[in-house]
Amino acid sequence: MGWYPWNEFGQEPQNEKLLKEIVDALVSSGLKEAGYTYVGPDEGICFYRDAGGKLTSNLDRYPSGLRGLGDYIHKKGLKYALYTDAGTRTCSKAMPGTKDHEFEDMAAFAEWRADYVKIDWCNTEGQDTAKTYRKLHDAQHAAGRPIVHSLCSWGEGEPWKWAASVGHLWRTTGDICAPGKADWSRAMKIAAANEKLYEAAGPGHWNDPDMMIIGMDGLSETQNRSFFSLWCMMTAPLMAGNDLRKMTPSTIQVLTNLEAIGINQDPLGIQGRIVRRNGKAEIWAGKRLFDGSEAVLVFNQGAASADVKVAWPDIGLAESESLYVRNLWTHQTSGPHRGGISVRVAPNDVALLRASKTNRFPVPPIIVADSYLVSLRAAGMTAQKLTGAITVKTNGSDELPLWKVRPGLPSWLSVAVRKTGKSQTLTSTACTAGLKSGLYHAVVRADNIEPVSGKPISVLYYDVDLEVTGRAGDRAKN
Ligand code: GLA
Repeated sequence: MGWYPWNEFGQEPQNEKLLKEIVDALVSSGLKEAGYTYVGPDEGICFYRDAGGKLTSNLDRYPSGLRGLGDYIHKKGLKYALYTDAGTRTCSKAMPGTKDHEFEDMAAFAEWRADYVKIDWCNTEGQDTAKTYRKLHDAQHAAGRPIVHSLCSWGEGEPWKWAASVGHLWRTTGDICAPGKADWSRAMKIAAANEKLYEAAGPGHWNDPDMMIIGMDGLSETQNRSFFSLWCMMTAPLMAGNDLRKMTPSTIQVLTNLEAIGINQDPLGIQGRIVRRNGKAEIWAGKRLFDGSEAVLVFNQGAASADVKVAWPDIGLAESESLYVRNLWTHQTSGPHRGGISVRVAPNDVALLRASKTNRFPVPPIIVADSYLVSLRAAGMTAQKLTGAITVKTNGSDELPLWKVRPGLPSWLSVAVRKTGKSQTLTSTACTAGLKSGLYHAVVRADNIEPVSGKPISVLYYDVDLEVTGRAGDRAKN
C-alpha cells in the first residue's frame, strides 16, 4: 500500500516540494493510519549519471537530495519508493536507465535508503525480460538492503509465469490512464485481464493491475467504491494515484475503509476471481481469508440495477451452511443465512461481502509506525549511551506477539522491545565506547508471526544513524 505520482501528475511537476506535501497529506488525511506506507517519485525522479557513472540526485528538483527526501519520509513513519528503468533510458528518455549499471544503480538506491523500487521497461530493445529482472534482483540483493522489487514490463514477457522468484509484484497490463486522465473503461479492461491471472498471486508475489485512479476527476463516488472493491478482491497493490492534497471526504472514506483493506491485506494473499456471471453482474469469490471466512464481491457492470442471488455453492460452500454476512461498505452484519444471500446492486456498483460461520469479522494486522528512522548524535570526549525509540502498532483486531529482533546488529547497538496492547516500542540504544568520530548506520530487522494464520510478517525494519563527533585523537571518518 502506498502512493505514486504518475496517474495524477505525470513527470514534470514531480519535485521535493510536491512529494513532501503529498507525504504530509498522506499522514493528515488518515491514509497512513489506514496502512498506506510506500511513497516517492516515479519518472520525475530526475537523477542523472555523473562523469564517474554514479547515479546522482538533481538538487534543483530535490534540494535535500534523494537521500534527504528518504529521511523525511522515514521520519514520518513511511517507506521510501523510488523509480528507474531496466533499459538504456527511462520512458521519456530524460533519465538514464540501469542497463549495464545494474549493480552500481541498486547500490545507489540502497544508499538513498529506498525500500521499494519500481523498474520500468522502456528502451529495452533486445533485452530478455526474465534475464534482465533476474540481474536486477541479484543487484538488489548485492546492495544489501531489503527492497520491494516492483517489475513494470506491463505484462511483457508474462512475468506472472516466472517473476515470483525475482520480485514481489509485477504489472500485468499497460498503463491504467494517461497522467491526469482517469479512464473508467480502460480500468475495467485492466481488471478483466488481471482477473484471469489469479493463480499467480500469493504472499510476496502479486499481480499488479497498476496504481489506482480513485479520487481523480472523471470517476463517480460509485465508481471509486467499485474500483477499490475490485483491487481489494484481486489482492492488488493499493498504490493510490490521486492528488492527496485535495480529496473529498468520500474519496478518503473509500481509500481508508479498513474492512475492505483487511481483505486486501489478508495474510493468505489469495486473489479472488469471477466464479459466476448473472447477465452483466459478476460474482467474485475464491478468496478465503485468514479466519476461514470468504470474501465475496458482486459487481454490476450493467446499465440497470441487478438482483443477484449468491448461493453458497457459488462460493465453494455447501448449500446447507448457515452463514453470517458482513457488508464491508455499510459495515453491517446480517444472518445467519441458509443456502445463500440475495443482493440488489445499482449500475456500476458493488456489494462487497464477507461470509463467515461466526459473526466476528477480524481485521488482519495492518502495521503503522510513528517513524522508521532513529537518528542519534554523540558529541564530546566521553563514551555515551544514547537511545531512540520507534513505536509500531497494528490496526488489526488482534494484538501481535512481541517482535523479535534479528541477530547481527553491530556491537555498538542493542534493541529492546516492549509491548503495550496493540503497540510495541523498539528502543535502540547506541553505546559510543570504543567508537571513533564518524557516521555509523545499521538496519534493524524484526520478525513476527501473525497469530491466527501462523504466517510470518517480516516487513518491520528501520534505520538507525549514529553520528559521533569530538573524540580525542581520532580522524574524521571511521
Ligand atoms: C510507464 C509506466 C508508468 C509510469 C511511466 C513513466 O508507462 O507503466 O506507470 O511509470 O512509465 O514514464
